[in-house]
Amino acid sequence: MDKEKERVILTGDRPTGRLHIGHFVGSLRNRVALQNEGKYKDMFVFIADAQALTDNMDNPEKVRQNVIEVALDYLSVGLDPDKVTMYIQSQIPELTELTFYYMDLVTVARLQRNPTVKTEMAMRGYRDSDGEEGDDNKKGMPVGFFTYPISQAADITAFMATTVPTGDDQKPMIEQTVEIVRRFNSIYGDTLVEPEILLPSNAASQRLPGTDGKAKMSKSLGNCIYLSETAEEVHKKVMSMYTDPLHLKVTDPGHLEGNTVFTYLDAFCTDDHIARYLPEYACLDEVKAHYTRGGLGDMKVKRLLENVLQETLEPIRNRRAGFEKDIPAVYEMLRQGSLKARETAADTLSRVKKAMKIDYFDDVDLIAEQARRYGSR
Ligand code: TRP
Repeated sequence: MDKEKERVILTGDRPTGRLHIGHFVGSLRNRVALQNEGKYKDMFVFIADAQALTDNMDNPEKVRQNVIEVALDYLSVGLDPDKVTMYIQSQIPELTELTFYYMDLVTVARLQRNPTVKTEMAMRGYRDSDGEEGDDNKKGMPVGFFTYPISQAADITAFMATTVPTGDDQKPMIEQTVEIVRRFNSIYGDTLVEPEILLPSNAASQRLPGTDGKAKMSKSLGNCIYLSETAEEVHKKVMSMYTDPLHLKVTDPGHLEGNTVFTYLDAFCTDDHIARYLPEYACLDEVKAHYTRGGLGDMKVKRLLENVLQETLEPIRNRRAGFEKDIPAVYEMLRQGSLKARETAADTLSRVKKAMKIDYFDDVDLIAEQARRYGSR
């Protein structure tokens, strides 16, 4: 059997805002390519609203409003409901049940060591989980937030996912999932499948910085270019992007390191783009060499990037406008996807409960053996 055809591909996004070009190069474009290659048994893409609530519990309206935004972004990049099951996490109650059982397989110390949890804890100003009340001016950390890696393991294993196309920041989550799978299988017998992360092939795509040059593109930092941005907005954002602060005159030698415009070009620009927009160069490396040497101005490089981004985003924006015309149909697509996803998750849950010996009513041997012991019927 062709191994690739046995793959189950699964990934998701938190609905806390519209998706941006960091999501696109980090995962969305990979998903569409995987979908179109068609070498998989199943493919699931979901909206992680329950996970979003773990640190937005005071803002349910934000999560609720962004479910449709993320769904529209999915459809507009080209995810096709005939090929991919798209659903809403909270509509699959089996996931919370799995999470509860997996909680017994993970220690508090292991969660505290999860690098993603650590970074996010710091970002949100949460006190350490062992921090005394009032030991500083940080906030107490909700248990649901602290344990979300366990729920993410449920998201993945409920569908027997083998392949998780996602950004580099999710690596610790997949590692933690693999540990849970191994521990579960060693205690209860071979039941769950170990997933693998599928990262984008180039470093620039794995972690796209914000337009201001800050390490991460994120809504809270206000340094995003959204997929649904108008052409005018894309223009403005590219023109005000962070480049090389030492490159003052065109003749000055430029630096590529930390130069966001070049990082974006690494993520987006192909030889075809160069041929179309800067035919005097053969490839991006030649543009870089000229910039480094001196004599190539930031404006010209920004114009190249703008052309590349406009060309990439225009079809996405146009498709979005089409789907926006029928919002009820988008919800219906998600409803059908959620029903279908639930069947798979329910199947896994019943295998898990059987392995854990909590399938009392289906276990005829258990009932017969106890009946015999008590001399009853
Ligand atoms: N944690 C992911 C994010 O913040 C979203 C997510 C939830 C996810 N469950 C998942 C991603 C399972 C991949 C697989 O983007």
